[in-house]
Amino acid sequence: MRRGAIVRITGIGIVIAILVFLVAYLIPWLPTPASEQMKRIEHVYWFVTVICIFIFALVISVLVYSVLNFRSPPEDESDGPSIHGNTGLEIVWTVVPAILVIAIGVVSAIVLSQNGNAGTNPMTIKVFAQQFSWRFEYPGSNNLKSYELVMPVDRNITFKMNSADVIHSFWIPAMGQKQDLVPGIDTSIVITPTRTGTFTLVCAELCGLGHATMRAPVRVVSQSDFAAWVKDQQGSGGTGTDGAAVFSSAGCGACHTFTPAGSKGAVGPNLDNVAADAKKAGEVPAAYVKESIVDPNKVLAPGYAAGVMPGNFGDSLSAKEIAALVTYLTGAKQ
Ligand code: CUA
Repeated sequence: MRRGAIVRITGIGIVIAILVFLVAYLIPWLPTPASEQMKRIEHVYWFVTVICIFIFALVISVLVYSVLNFRSPPEDESDGPSIHGNTGLEIVWTVVPAILVIAIGVVSAIVLSQNGNAGTNPMTIKVFAQQFSWRFEYPGSNNLKSYELVMPVDRNITFKMNSADVIHSFWIPAMGQKQDLVPGIDTSIVITPTRTGTFTLVCAELCGLGHATMRAPVRVVSQSDFAAWVKDQQGSGGTGTDGAAVFSSAGCGACHTFTPAGSKGAVGPNLDNVAADAKKAGEVPAAYVKESIVDPNKVLAPGYAAGVMPGNFGDSLSAKEIAALVTYLTGAKQ
């Protein structure tokens, strides 16, 4: 009888373990790794998952066996037998989980430390976040600025991060690493891309009305393509001359509707009406638009609250970029 019970419990446990393993393995819970760090994180994921599958199968198999075999008849309302614990069993169920939890802790600490190691001679990219856009600076390349994150493959890259307003969080899902950007604190993270391709950087910290739209394109290219890109960017003088590019990269469309840009944001005023709004404010459109970008709380469009539009675009955008944006929004040369 006892032997039969162990055989049946083991059988139920194996079936449950297989089912749960298939759920873990067949559903793509994690993106295909695109960095050294993500590969290590994936190892931790499997290490923890296999332990969890084992414990889950053990608990559920005993539960299922007990439900099937020790159910009381419908009319039976008597108390069950009184049991005074089992010291041996209690030692086992304390020591085994303790060992497993310590093992998970040690493996995680090793991976965390490896993922924080930038090795020798890492490349540094500065990241600036603000509601609701990302900007990247490549030191040593004439402080090249970009709104697209371009990285060379197989290179250790240290990101040094700063936020202009509230807490944001830097996360490229396929690369695993995630790091908060906190105003007033310099934070950093290391990523070593392992394959070329396009990815998306998303903000992973609720940071305001436009949080869900706070994304940036990410491109991993070969080392030679990266060198060519840097050269090309320096030659073109960045995005400063193209109002449409500034509009999209500064994240304006997240909050504003503007038909030429195809944006449908409804958080802030509709920019198709800037001429009429300028008239209401008693200003010429170009001056009104520039003022609204640099000092958004000075004149508020009717029905919109103060303090929603970030007040620091005057610092984060260059004079050239603001001029291009004004031209783009008013549809006229200044
Ligand atoms: Cu920035 Cu959410």
